[in-house]
Amino acid sequence: MNTISAGPHWQALQALAENQRLQPIHQLFSENPERFSQLSFRLGALLVDFSKQHYQQETIEQLIALAEESELPSWIDKLFAGVEVNHTENRPALHTALRLPEGRECFLDGQNISIDVQENLKRMEELVNHIHTGQWRGFSGEAINTVVNIGVGGSDLGPLMACNALAETPARDDSSQLAQQAAIDVHFVSSMDGSQLADLLKVLNPARTLFVIASKSFTTIDTMANAATAKEWLCKHANCSDTALVARHFIGVSSKPEKMLDWGIPKQNQLEFWEWTGGRYSMWSAIGLLIALKLGMSTFKDMLAGAHNMDEHFRLTPLKENIPVLLALTGIWNINFLNIGAHAILPYDGRLKNLPAYLEQLEMESNGKSVNRQGETVDYNTCPILWGEIGTNAQHAFYQLLHQGTEAVMCDFIVAAKRYGPDASQELRHQHQLNLANCFAQSRILALGDSVLEDAHTAPAHKRYQGNQPCTTIMLNELSPFTFGQLIAMYEHKVFVQSVIWGINPFDQWGVELGKQVATNLLGQLDGENLETLDASTAGLIKTINGDKVGVM
Ligand code: F6P
Repeated sequence: MNTISAGPHWQALQALAENQRLQPIHQLFSENPERFSQLSFRLGALLVDFSKQHYQQETIEQLIALAEESELPSWIDKLFAGVEVNHTENRPALHTALRLPEGRECFLDGQNISIDVQENLKRMEELVNHIHTGQWRGFSGEAINTVVNIGVGGSDLGPLMACNALAETPARDDSSQLAQQAAIDVHFVSSMDGSQLADLLKVLNPARTLFVIASKSFTTIDTMANAATAKEWLCKHANCSDTALVARHFIGVSSKPEKMLDWGIPKQNQLEFWEWTGGRYSMWSAIGLLIALKLGMSTFKDMLAGAHNMDEHFRLTPLKENIPVLLALTGIWNINFLNIGAHAILPYDGRLKNLPAYLEQLEMESNGKSVNRQGETVDYNTCPILWGEIGTNAQHAFYQLLHQGTEAVMCDFIVAAKRYGPDASQELRHQHQLNLANCFAQSRILALGDSVLEDAHTAPAHKRYQGNQPCTTIMLNELSPFTFGQLIAMYEHKVFVQSVIWGINPFDQWGVELGKQVATNLLGQLDGENLETLDASTAGLIKTINGDKVGVM
């Protein structure tokens, strides 16, 4: 097998890892007072500090050589040029085209797809204005004031995260002012069991509620089942035909216009995006409709501009100063050479509470693969397990394990340097200081251990802190639509870079398909028929729901 792990740079990195393990992170700091300035990088208002990582300059040089050996620069070119980097589905991955500013072109098969992107943005803007100005009316003639997004995975997590992250964005133009005046209430439902939707339907006013069915494929059973329940609920309350009801209360966002039409969504209620936008990269497309509905089209566009700023940095900056590249290579070092298989995402900002869930999909659905582009099983680890929580809440939950457990964990601390303005109360401003102090304290102890205390060695073993959990701090000057766009695009490109090193396709997700198929088959067996085709466990569970008292003592 032609594998990167047999190459000279992989071997050199392995040798470095052997030595590095002997040298704790706190020593790396005491030996080099320039560590922070050498290992932190800025892009505008975004700073990424790698100095609490368990490596030195020499390691980074080898990691960059590994990236070059993997032909990373040419893969970056391929990504932006629309080459079919998703080879198992014969598709390019052109989410970067969604955030190109007006006037910049991107060609695919000789077609300027930027024209379609801009037209789509305009249609989205029209729809958003229509709703904000109270012109979109429900079956009773009253204006819509509530919008429910029905979607799952990439058709849910991104818009949900952005709506929460950017809810405090001040209005700066007509579009955002209008959004604030309209104060559209937005909700997200995703769970297949209908529990989120059922809770909402108890309190929403059907006459003023609009549903957005967001699904790239428009076949995802979770989404279609929730959409059917929503339609049934509306039918119960409205005295009009099915067709009129759907036209007044449903918008579809999908890459499958014919499927939207089959469901009854008229052309004028459809927003499209394209096969070349992966589901988990679709927040930047019309899937972001709820972001614009809640915050205004200008906020949505600012987010696109931030992401584009990161795209340009990623495309044009030499590897050794390229933030997503360095973030990715840091991960490669931790995963493949320090054998760390867990990655904690720790936003020190309540507004980013959905970031861990978003990154779980982005990273694990993209790079949770074990077969390379040649179809061979890889002989190295790929994506680690990611999870996370608002940092300060996690301090009271799982930090015990981070500080004193047996598991090595790499940690991303994400924080905004500035938060509340001069108008905020003194107490609230103090809370931000508390938050910052905790963020810096925790990453300090996790990386440097109790060496930060003079008399640590006198403490009993159960009070000692080993340190050496590698930490990256990602600090935004402020959390704004622009910096939020930069942040998410940075993680997207990080995932791509890691996929290149590992030689895997980050843009497909075949590992989720079999479950869907087996569940469809099982649906017909839940009444207890044909159980002999199943394993004893599954058959036993089905018998139990049908009343058999199997295994009850
Ligand atoms: O089943 C996984 C998945 O396909 C994700 O990749 C995707 O984001 C999610 O389901 C939702 O898919 P869709 O937007 O097609 O409903």
